[in-house]
Amino acid sequence: MSATIKLENKHFPVLLKELLSIISPLYGGTFIDCTFGQGGYSKKILEEKKNKIIALDRDQDVNLYVKEIEKKYSNRFNFHNIKFSQINNLKIKDNDLKAIIFDLGYSLNQIKDLSKGLSFQSKGKLNMKMGLNEFSSHEVISKMNEKNLVKIFKFFGDEIHAKKIVKKIVENRKIKTINTEDLTKIIDDVKKYKNSKINNSTKVFQALRIFVNKEISELINGLINAFHLLPVGGIILVVTFHSIEDRIVKFFFKNYSEIKNPSRYLPNKNKILKCFKLTNKKPIIPNSEELKLNPSSRSAKLRFVTKISNQYNFDDFKKKFEYLTDIENLQFDK
Ligand SMILES: C[S@@+](CC[C@H](N)C(=O)[O-])C[C@H]1O[C@@H](n2cnc3c(N)ncnc32)[C@H](O)[C@@H]1O
Repeated sequence: MSATIKLENKHFPVLLKELLSIISPLYGGTFIDCTFGQGGYSKKILEEKKNKIIALDRDQDVNLYVKEIEKKYSNRFNFHNIKFSQINNLKIKDNDLKAIIFDLGYSLNQIKDLSKGLSFQSKGKLNMKMGLNEFSSHEVISKMNEKNLVKIFKFFGDEIHAKKIVKKIVENRKIKTINTEDLTKIIDDVKKYKNSKINNSTKVFQALRIFVNKEISELINGLINAFHLLPVGGIILVVTFHSIEDRIVKFFFKNYSEIKNPSRYLPNKNKILKCFKLTNKKPIIPNSEELKLNPSSRSAKLRFVTKISNQYNFDDFKKKFEYLTDIENLQFDK
């Protein structure tokens, strides 16, 4: 989830200081902000006069923030309402692209907008669309078959009660349309206890959100296409909020990165082309000061790489996560 908060009208984007120290915006250049949100990163980068921002967001509702920045920096800021998996369709005029930034998940504004149904406090019809979607969670819950629903809850939510929850959903949907309150009640009834750490519905909601927004394929294609767009020397930087996202980013960065001091006893891994330099093996996480100011940043992990070569072969990246993209491709009668 997002760690972006609005406090006394001040906006605190997650790991901002750390991000700036990596991308060095003071030297000037073009940056792509793939997840514009409230424009926290974009605004900060644009403070340096030599910088340009190309920003993307799938959610049209970010327009309010887009307008605010356009007014101030019209000739250095460009916004596109597209999904970041389509980043390769952008026409970049100058070749001064320094970094491509992803701050995954949803913003606090999106979760506060109860009509989007991303929060389990939402009322009424299920939704969970972040923008530019093919269907909502209402359709998934009412139409997806039992076996596939279990797979979605298990693989995208790690929900150990998936089978029981889905059984109840299927029983209930025969008699009525399941809305957000019904779904949370079904989950509470199955779990029968209150988990003190996370809400009973967190895992199922995460699973549905990932499925509805095709977050796994978005991330995999977004990373690959970012690689293609970026010149050698450019940086890809990703902030993740849950373990599936982080596993994907970690694999992509580590598997295609040069090892700093490879042991001569290591097996020859020539077959994997190394196109990145990985400076930090471990992710960067918020410090205690940030956690105090913004507790929802606690699950944030920042990873980055520098592109060192145009040579690539990402076949095993796609293969490794095929078991997840296959689930995202599960169909139901629309
Ligand atoms: C965590 S917020 C970004 C917050 C931003 N860094 C800031 O400082 O305000 C994530 C944003 O990414 C957008 N988003 C999520 N997945 C996307 C995708 N596949 N393509 C484009 N935008 C996406 C969401 O709509 C949301 O506005």
